[in-house]
Parts: sequence; structure tokens; C-alpha cells
Amino acid sequence: AAAEKGGFPSFMAKEIHDQPKAIADTLLGRVEESTGRLQLDEMKISEAELRTIDKMIVIACGTAAYAGQVAKYAIEHWCRVPVEVELAHEFRYRDPVVSERTLVVAISQSGETMDTIMAVRHAREQGAKVLAICNTNGSTIPRESDAVLYTHAGPEIAVASTKAFLAQITACYLLGLFLAQLRGNKFSDEVAEVLAQLHEIPGQVQQVLDGLEQVREIARYMADTRSVLFLGRHVGYPVAMEGALKLKELAYIHAEGFAAGELKHGPIALIEPGQPVFVVVPSPRGRDSLHSKVVSNIQEVRARGARTLVIAEEGDTAVEPYADVVIRVPRTSTLLSPLLAVVPLQVFACELAAAKGLDVDQPRNLAKSVTVE
Ligand code: G6P
Repeated sequence: AAAEKGGFPSFMAKEIHDQPKAIADTLLGRVEESTGRLQLDEMKISEAELRTIDKMIVIACGTAAYAGQVAKYAIEHWCRVPVEVELAHEFRYRDPVVSERTLVVAISQSGETMDTIMAVRHAREQGAKVLAICNTNGSTIPRESDAVLYTHAGPEIAVASTKAFLAQITACYLLGLFLAQLRGNKFSDEVAEVLAQLHEIPGQVQQVLDGLEQVREIARYMADTRSVLFLGRHVGYPVAMEGALKLKELAYIHAEGFAAGELKHGPIALIEPGQPVFVVVPSPRGRDSLHSKVVSNIQEVRARGARTLVIAEEGDTAVEPYADVVIRVPRTSTLLSPLLAVVPLQVFACELAAAKGLDVDQPRNLAKSVTVE
């Protein structure tokens, strides 16, 4: 087993370090070199059918559902198709509105999660087309779906999902860009640009990984913490929730992810002196002044005594006055930023759990693949 961990203390630590390759392998062979166009014939769903899609519903559980939440922002922006994201077990039991023009996207690392399988069956019974985004060749979900786009993260052993998450976001983005390309909409220049940026991501994830000693130190120092809050906005919101999930799963610490804009509507009441708050900060180069709004949120929680751990882009100096700690990630576009911003949060949870002497790969009460409803 020690050899399989490749010199890392746990499978999870190894899988976190495998992430540049997981993304690169998921991109591999899917962009035609001569034309620069995406080529996803392997999905085995006709372009004519894909053109008729007027709504998408992502169904998934756990970390895979957060990948779907990230993808919603990107796919709606690029394709102008409404995307709903729903936990598979909720979708199944609520009489969802679907038709032959609905594309249901089932995301699953294992392809064996029973809640997701039941949702896939339900969607197909209602006449929807189902596309699986899956990491396990020939597993139940791709077999029962109309089409499949595989993530190539390689086998994931640790119960808590890491590299599969980044590969799922990557695959969802390929799907979104492919639909945008197919629909030939006004974003076609943007598609090429995003594809180019996507190919930079593996190297940028490696840069994040190379600079994480600071995060490890903070995690060890915080081993006795009882509660951690995570704030994010736009694509940073699902990143915040994923950061909280990792900490619950691995370190058994109470953690919650909030939409930063919601802070003033309730969660700010939780802030007391010493409360650690991670904040995922959007790029200052993005539109919509989201950056300054999130910087104000950091200021608001800090003024109430929170200890602020801020994940911000390189060169973003505006966060510095209100941050107890700044964790830097390289520059990329807003929509791609989750692929970088989540990495320090994974490492934080992994390291904190290890510092508490817990079994990082096999957390209590959890299974890698939940094969019962
Ligand atoms: C379990 C695992 C999670 C995973 C979820 C969905 O709860 O502990 O890490 O995110 O199942 O699994 P799937 O294989 O469908 O992606």
C-alpha cells in the first residue's frame, strides 16, 4: 500500500497531487489540433439531438453535485440554456418537469451511487435524454445512460473526492463549450479563449500545490478548531460548500459554506471573536464588482472578530488589509477559478485531519460509493 501511495502519507494526499494530470488527461484528445475545435463524438449522442436541448438538469450527490453547481454558471453563460442542479435523491421524488428536450447530466465518480442511478432511471422514464459524466468505465450509470463523457482522473481510492471533482468540472466545461460551439452562438471567440485557458490549468494547479506549505502549517495550528465557516460568491459559492464538506468528512469539524451575499441575511450572527472564516475571493478583473462586494464581506466579519483566511488571486492587494492570512492562487478567468481555489481547501482539510490523527482515507461512517438508497 505504501508504494501505491507514491510516497505520500495517504491516498488522498496523493490524489490531490494527481490533480494536474487528472485535468490534463480529461482534456486529452478532445480538441482537434488542426482546427482547435472540440471533438466529442465519443459521447454517442447526435449533434441534431444536442441542438434541440432547451434545458439541462444536473443530478448528482456529494462532491459531484458541487461540480454541477460550478458548471451551471459556465454552461448558462456559454450556451444560454437554463441549467438546474439537483441532488439526485431530491430530483427523483419531486415530480420534476422534464421532456425529450431536457438533457439530464448525471455526474458520478463511481457510477454506482444508488441515489444517482435511481434518478437516471426516473429521468429516462420521463423521456429525458441522460448523459453520464463518470470516472469509472462501464459502471452502472454510464451503462444506463443514453450517452457518456468520461472523466480521466484515474482510480480514486480515498473516500473523500478530490481529483474526480476537478475532472468533473473539466468535463462539464468541455460539454458546455461543445454545446456553445455546436450552437454557433456569439460566444465562439470566447470558446477558443476558454479552451486555451483550460489547457493552462494543470500547470497552474501544480503551482498552487507547490506553494501550500503555508496552508499545511495553518491546518496543523488549527487542529483544535471546532467550527469553520466558508464564504464564496458566484462560482466561489460551490467552492465554499465543497471546502466545508471536505472539512466535515475528513476532520469531523462543524463547517458550513455560505453565499457571501447571504451573510447579512443571517449567518453573520454566527461570527464571534476568533471564528475562522475562509473567504474565496473573485478576481478583481472580473465584471459585476463582485470582488469589492466580497472584500466588504471580509471586512464585515473581521470587524466582528473573525479570523479571516482569504483565498485570492496573485496581485490582488485589496484583500490584504482585512486578511489574517492570504492564500494566493494564479490568475485565470472567473469561470475557471474554482479549479484553483478549491485546492488549498482540500489540502487544509486533509492536513488538519492528519494532524488530529484521523484516518484521512477512510473517514468514519462514510463509504466511497453509497450503493443503497
Ligand atoms: C459518497 C462519497 C462522496 C461522493 C459521493 C458521490 O458520499 O463519500 O465523496 O462525492 O458519494 O459519489 P459518486 O461516486 O456518485 O461521485
